Amino acid sequence: MEKTRKDLVYLNGMYKRILDEINVGVHAVDETGKTIIYNKKMMQMESMDFQDVMDKNLLDVFMFKDDQSSTLVKALQEGKETSNVKQTYFNNKSREITTINNTIPIYSDHELQGAVEIANDVTKLEKIIKGNMKKGTTKYTFDHIIGTSTAIKEVIETAKRATRTSSYVLIVGDTGTGKELFAQSIHNGSDRLSGPFISQNCAALPDNLIESLLFGTKRGAFTGATDTPGLFEQANGGTLLLDEINSLNLSLQAKLLRVLQEKTIRRLGDTKDMPIDVRVIANMNEDPIDAVANNRMRKDLYYRLGVVTIFVPPLKDRKEDIPLLLEEFIEKYNERFQMQVKGLSEEVKHSFFEYDWHGNVRELEHIIEAAMNILMDGEDFIMYRHLPYQYRNKMQMKERMMPLSTVETFMKETGDVTVPLKEQLELFEKSYIEHVLKKNDFNISKTAKLLGLSRQSLQYRLKKLNFEVNPL
Ligand SMILES: Nc1ncnc2c1ncn2[C@@H]1O[C@H](COP(=O)(O)OP(=O)(O)OP(=O)(O)O)[C@@H](O)[C@H]1O
Ligand SMILES: [Mg+2]
Repeated sequence: MEKTRKDLVYLNGMYKRILDEINVGVHAVDETGKTIIYNKKMMQMESMDFQDVMDKNLLDVFMFKDDQSSTLVKALQEGKETSNVKQTYFNNKSREITTINNTIPIYSDHELQGAVEIANDVTKLEKIIKGNMKKGTTKYTFDHIIGTSTAIKEVIETAKRATRTSSYVLIVGDTGTGKELFAQSIHNGSDRLSGPFISQNCAALPDNLIESLLFGTKRGAFTGATDTPGLFEQANGGTLLLDEINSLNLSLQAKLLRVLQEKTIRRLGDTKDMPIDVRVIANMNEDPIDAVANNRMRKDLYYRLGVVTIFVPPLKDRKEDIPLLLEEFIEKYNERFQMQVKGLSEEVKHSFFEYDWHGNVRELEHIIEAAMNILMDGEDFIMYRHLPYQYRNKMQMKERMMPLSTVETFMKETGDVTVPLKEQLELFEKSYIEHVLKKNDFNISKTAKLLGLSRQSLQYRLKKLNFEVNPL
């Protein structure tokens, strides 16, 4: 049956939609090399906007290296189909792109009408694999873990015991507490020392990529897939550190569990299992019990991984370690910057003991590094004014917060009557907002900024709390 114009418009819309939904890049040019189809995935892969490419000649937009020509242009020139060709080129913002392409010339009545390229993005995958290869070396051992507090000493003991076996280890702790340090030390203290140490952050990648990265791929598993060993294979005989394990999706966690139990892996698209000997260490910055309760971690995976669980305590719970850490970091940056800093002023020391250290040891190190950058020639001691602005600002805020003693007195005075939390908080919120508004002549933007809220958010609160103000 002959298609009507309406049918064709409808179908065209449908094709466009499909092109934008699929997970491969599609780029078609006419016989002169001008772009006529350019789908969403291709836009993402090449970091280009539709209008930068559409209706333009491909060679005006992309740059190819001397020894590589465009597979699309080649298809136009030679009229031949190519498949699984890897291509590296640059977009007009000088960003490097690597794709694996199938390129097909399009004929109509034996005449060449154009060509289409179907591309898989490997830029990310390549970078990550290269990045990991480089990371194959470790620098930390137990000697680098500083601390004499009972809390840290216990953790070091547990970690040292774990070097004697190949059991899986789960390391739990807030950001900057030294989880990576512990993982490397366990590897270097074990008899896997001479084997590889590979680390991968599970949160950094989309699920489909992480799966091929972990388990590897077999040529033909999907368009453009090559025979690539996964990280498990690369870590064979050594240790694989999986960082932020709780960000893996649950179905991948199930696959990981299978590998941990059976000690075999199967590359994507393969039918064969391969035995592997890898010690997995997993890191996470959330309490595993919470992660399990909130469905972010499979219970069975937790039981499997958590044979040895190491909880690295936050710095605020072992402030007695601060002086030793300071000594270490000052020495490190004295050497690096060729300085002779001797220590800190009493004021700085005192404030370090008051501070909450949400960024833990990493934050402490950064503050010392930043302060030593500001120190002038001949200044031997780090003074409060040398500390980074963000730190001083946070301390100032802390000082101005309602002291705990005031809260405690208030609670004592309320006696036996308990008010629902919501009402109590609203009352405080309302009077505090009112106070800050008055201080700032009812200027909404200024008040919002001081309260750390957006303008919209402040206005929303004013409305919710039934404020009688006329926002400026
Ligand atoms: N006990 C310690 N002694 C000496 N240096 C430490 C200690 N703990 C942490 N550090 C240093 O702090 C920095 C952060 O440590 P690390 O990368 O191991 O933290 P992390 O727990 O893995 O953090 P994140 O969760 O953010 O990845 C590193 O430079 C490390 O050398
Ligand atoms: Mg880490």
